[in-house]
Amino acid sequence: MTSVAKTFRNALLAATFAAGLSVPALAKDASVEVTVDTATTGPVIDKHIFGQFAEHLGTGIYGGVWVGKDSPIPNVRGIRTDVVTALKALKVPNVRWPGGCFADEYHWRDGIGPVDKRRVQINTNWGGVPESNAFGTHEFMDFAEQIGSEAYISVNIGSGTAAEASAWIEYMTAEKDTTLAKERAANGHPAPWKVPILGLGNENWGCGGAMSADHYVEEMKRFANFTRNFNPAQREGAARMKRIAVGWDSDKLDYTEEVMKAWSTHVYSWDIEGVSLHKYTVGGGWPPSRPSTGFGNDDYALMIGDTLSMDTLLKKQKAIMDKYDPEKKLLIAVDEWGAWLAPTPGSNPGFLQQQNSMRDGVIAALNLNIFARHADRVKIANIAQMINVLQAMILTDGSKMVLTPTYHVFRMYVPFQDAQFAPVKFASGDYAVGERKIPRVDAMAAKDKSGQVWVSLVNVDPDAGTSVTIPGFRTASGEVLTAPKVDSVNTFAAPSVVAPKAISGKASGNGVTIALPPRSVTVVKVSK
Ligand code: AHR
Repeated sequence: MTSVAKTFRNALLAATFAAGLSVPALAKDASVEVTVDTATTGPVIDKHIFGQFAEHLGTGIYGGVWVGKDSPIPNVRGIRTDVVTALKALKVPNVRWPGGCFADEYHWRDGIGPVDKRRVQINTNWGGVPESNAFGTHEFMDFAEQIGSEAYISVNIGSGTAAEASAWIEYMTAEKDTTLAKERAANGHPAPWKVPILGLGNENWGCGGAMSADHYVEEMKRFANFTRNFNPAQREGAARMKRIAVGWDSDKLDYTEEVMKAWSTHVYSWDIEGVSLHKYTVGGGWPPSRPSTGFGNDDYALMIGDTLSMDTLLKKQKAIMDKYDPEKKLLIAVDEWGAWLAPTPGSNPGFLQQQNSMRDGVIAALNLNIFARHADRVKIANIAQMINVLQAMILTDGSKMVLTPTYHVFRMYVPFQDAQFAPVKFASGDYAVGERKIPRVDAMAAKDKSGQVWVSLVNVDPDAGTSVTIPGFRTASGEVLTAPKVDSVNTFAAPSVVAPKAISGKASGNGVTIALPPRSVTVVKVSK
């Protein structure tokens, strides 16, 4: 590049950075400079954006988590040990349960007491299979405790009553000798549990009861009024139970608007702490039909473009919320997100089973980076779903278990939990296939509680490597996740095709340079 061109480009970059935008790099494989601003105090990236979602759906619970106490598959009180060990490494902050659509047909009393007396019902949403209710409140709380996580409980607004929801919270949280606390003790758990997050329904415009936004708001207010936490230690300050009202999904703007309007004039008897947003990466059309393996670069770019629209949706939801809540008292919970693809051939289509490729790893990283950039409002997120369903962390088949590329990304991102967001500036450049263009590179950075700076670098380009220079730092070390192909997957027979490897940078000029392989996610700690 000539010096005139360099001067022009630097001026362009400076102006663009001031506006918080990125510009295309000049050449397809040009190296990228990522400037990390550690002086600006950004918001904390709440650990709860790394939350998971476990619905009674397919083999997400039965087979994936719960095998029963008498199973030959190693387990602790019916919960499979291999899965617990793997999930502990993710430091899962919260698990959303029991749904999803299942939540609005769930009656908690069906899932307590002697297992052989529990009601067997049909899971009407997911495959029409019998639901034994063998996995109920005690089993879920045990699972959450075994993996070191917290509970995000969704109560049934669609087909349940406020009294039922209130009694469930009392059963879980009351510490005094109420009848329900005694019943909990008689069922094996004298100590109250913590319920830090409570969902007030789920997608109530659809499977949650086909309610108009106005109707939902009236129901939600009543439920918010009566769903008190019965434990004083879970009512105040940071420990206060957060109630999440149903907000937007990709085409239901009215829910967020009506919820916020109602909240802005709410009376003392009810309150909420957040509003949800659901967004699946589908690549267009319904039902989801994009294959989870055997796709080309065009399909890859289509899915990446779709996933990046999460940013647009968040901006729209934030604009609505800012109108009614400029002080940002309410949070956004993106409590369902991830890739929703065509079902694995031969599987029950109602079980939403799909493979998970390197592309899913890239999708996970890009979304987590978007949530971090919106950390001022986005305080909770739950990928759909934890095991065997949609964009899963883990796939199981009988006693076999395999970790997916998405699992590895979540593990590599652990240092970002509760770290302080540090703005980055970079010129992403474009990756183009046909008419379709997507940003070639993505970057996100944060400072952890010890002051260590961590940087995530995503090379979205499926074919070309690139190098990134971070000025002001001299060392970089961490892990990189890449794969032979963008649709490479881990299988029970070949579980380590997509697995993280060590990576480090080299001091160069006034910074440190890291060579990023194509289709890769890298997380490094950088030092001066
Ligand atoms: O995650 C699968 C389903 O997607 C959930 O049950 C529902 O809330 C959403 O439509």
